[in-house]
Amino acid sequence: MPTVVIANLQSKSIHCEDKRESLLDILLSATDWMHACGAKGRCTTCKGRILHGMDNLTLRTRPEEQYAKLNKLRDDERLTCQAQVIGDVTLEVPKETQLPHLTYSE
Ligand code: FES
Repeated sequence: MPTVVIANLQSKSIHCEDKRESLLDILLSATDWMHACGAKGRCTTCKGRILHGMDNLTLRTRPEEQYAKLNKLRDDERLTCQAQVIGDVTLEVPKETQLPHLTYSE
């Protein structure tokens, strides 16, 4: 069972079911996470910065490739609504998409 850790949110640890789920669905099962377009790949508000385990996510989707070309998605970032989890991942919430009612560490 993969584990997802949110490093800058008190290192919150989420244990996943043993099947492919979107990273966003896993995150939302344990905390609030911005996702303005409703997980349709049409914004970048759901992005997460991957610290460990980039290889434990499915390959980038077409929307992610397009945002990367527009420099709206860094090499170490993924749209959490597009990436499916296949192994352990550690990520952090980028400053620009942090929610005001949650307390993040640096
Ligand atoms: S929620 Fe908009 S791209 Fe993921």
